[in-house]
Amino acid sequence: MILPNSPEATKFVQDAKVLAQQELATDVFFLVVEAPKIARAAKAGQFVQLRILSGDFTLRRPVGVAAVDSKKGSVAFIYRVVGRGTKALSALMPGEMVNVLGPLGHGFTMKYQRPLIVGGGMGLSPLLYYADAMKGKADVLMGGKTAEELFWTNLFDDLTQEVFVTTDDGSMGTKGFTTTLLPELLEKGDYDVVVTCGPEIMMRGVAKIAKEHGLPCEVSLEKRMACGLGACLSCSIDTTDGQRKKVCKDGPVFPAEEVFA
Ligand SMILES: Cc1cc2nc3c(=O)[nH]c(=O)nc-3n(C[C@H](O)[C@H](O)[C@H](O)COP(=O)(O)OP(=O)(O)OC[C@H]3O[C@@H](n4cnc5c(N)ncnc54)[C@H](O)[C@@H]3O)c2cc1C
Ligand code: FES
Repeated sequence: MILPNSPEATKFVQDAKVLAQQELATDVFFLVVEAPKIARAAKAGQFVQLRILSGDFTLRRPVGVAAVDSKKGSVAFIYRVVGRGTKALSALMPGEMVNVLGPLGHGFTMKYQRPLIVGGGMGLSPLLYYADAMKGKADVLMGGKTAEELFWTNLFDDLTQEVFVTTDDGSMGTKGFTTTLLPELLEKGDYDVVVTCGPEIMMRGVAKIAKEHGLPCEVSLEKRMACGLGACLSCSIDTTDGQRKKVCKDGPVFPAEEVFA
C-alpha cells in the first residue's frame, strides 16, 4: 500500500483549517476547508474521511467531495447532522482545524458527453462536483419529500443545462419520486449515461429504468466505513458476479449492473 503523504502518494492526510461553515437548511451544513493537495487530486465522486480533533472520536467520518477550488486549495462538503460526529463537525468555526484523509475511492467515469444526474437527499452533494466537472453538459433530476428539501436547485442551476424536480407532496415540480419522471426524461432526452446517488431504493429504481432504456448507469454507494482505505473489510459488498468488493476502495462509484441484480 502506498502511504498517504509519501512521494508516490495519491492520498494525503493533513490537519485542515476551516475556511467557512454555513447552515444551508435545517441540520444541513456547507463546510469549506483548506487542503491544497486534496483539492488538486480529488476527482468527482471521490470522498474524504474527516477526523474530528476535539472530544474522543477515534473513527473518521466519510463525506463526499461537493466542490474543489484547486487555485485556492480548498475543498467543500455538504453534510447532514445525524449523530455525534456530524454534530461536532457542525460546531467547528472558521480558523479551527479538522483532520482530512483523501481523496479516497473511485469516482465517476468522465467519458460521457450528455449525462442525466439523478439525486436524492445528501446524495446530491457528490453529484454537485460531478455536474461542475462535466462543464455544463449534464441535466439534473432531483427528488425530495417537500420543496424545503430542494435548496439544491440553486446550487445546480449554474452547473447544468436543465434542473428537473420531483417532490413527494407536489409542493415543487412533478408530484412523485424521481423514478416517476425519469422514464419521460429518458424517452425525450439525448442522454448517454445516467449517474445517480441517494437512497438505495431510489438508485435501484433509477438503474432499472436506465437499463430498460438501454443506457449505462453509474451508482454511488454508501456503506458504514472504518478505515476508508480497503484494509478492514467493514464496507464489503457482494457483487452480482459473486465477488467481494470494498465500497471504500473499489467504489463508492460502481457500474449499476455490478452491484444491483
Ligand atoms: C462514501 C460516503 C460518502 C458520504 N458522503 C456524505 C455526504 O457527502 N454528506 C453526508 O451528509 N453524509 C455522507 N455520508 C454519510 C456520513 O458518513 C454519515 O452520516 C456520518 O458518518 C454519520 O456520523 P455521525 O457520527 O454523525 O453519526 P453516528 O450514527 O453517531 O455515527 C456512528 C458511526 O457510524 C458511522 N456511520 C454512521 N452513518 C454512516 C453512514 N451512512 N456511512 C458511513 N458511516 C456511517 C460513523 O462514521 C461513525 O463511526 C457518506 C458516507 C459514505 C460511506
Ligand atoms: S472501510 Fe475499511 S475496508 Fe472499507
